[in-house]
Amino acid sequence: MSPLIIALDFAQPEPALALAKLLGPERCHFKIGKELFTRSGPALVEEMVEQGFDVFLDLKYHDIPNTVAQACLAAADLGVWMINVHALGGRKMLLAAREALDKCSKPPLLVAVTILTSLERVDLYGVGLHGTLEDNVLRLARLSHACSLDGVVCSPHEIAAVRQAVGTDFKLVTPGIRPASHPQNDQKRVMTPAQALKLGANYLVIGRPVTAAPNPLQALLEIEASIGAT
Ligand code: C5P
Repeated sequence: MSPLIIALDFAQPEPALALAKLLGPERCHFKIGKELFTRSGPALVEEMVEQGFDVFLDLKYHDIPNTVAQACLAAADLGVWMINVHALGGRKMLLAAREALDKCSKPPLLVAVTILTSLERVDLYGVGLHGTLEDNVLRLARLSHACSLDGVVCSPHEIAAVRQAVGTDFKLVTPGIRPASHPQNDQKRVMTPAQALKLGANYLVIGRPVTAAPNPLQALLEIEASIGAT
């Protein structure tokens, strides 16, 4: 199974679907986030699932346990492959999400966001989270693991420490990936696909290096070649 998740960061469903079709359902997974979902609704998700695409519905649920559990069930009903929640929602919320999905016949993978990579230590302090970024990431990764989630989203530079904290049977999903030859865009701390996989990532979220490439299929093929996945 491919480790690549292509982020469909489009405002409208048509270019998102066109790109997914160009790359094909066999090559990789596809991430639908808040903007595209808020504009196009579940219809696009259902259409993609219907056409055999693996969809990661990146809506980062964070609410009271019952609400998150019901949202997870609604996502599972759409037939998506992966969903996520905020680990900061706490143990009860994580367990409620897990228990809800355990009742599904074909549950999506359930992963948690630890600390958003847009936050710095001073931001954490402002919301009452003390300690270093890494302390917080590791605490939330351990909590997610203890609540039997399937994995966490983490930055490439957290892969090694998180992997060491939670062992091998836990998926690490990593954005901030750039092929060696590609500009960083607004990503601050990037890593190549091969480096991230070597450190222990299971899935790589890649957007603009593919979606904004003059030839997206060629860009994807080059990334596959760089990780020996052709
Ligand atoms: O275009 P690019 O490869 O930077 O896109 C990365 C994708 O991963 C985007 O959908 C972005 O929202 C998401 N993401 C990220 N950094 C995080 C978490 C998610 O770039 N820390």
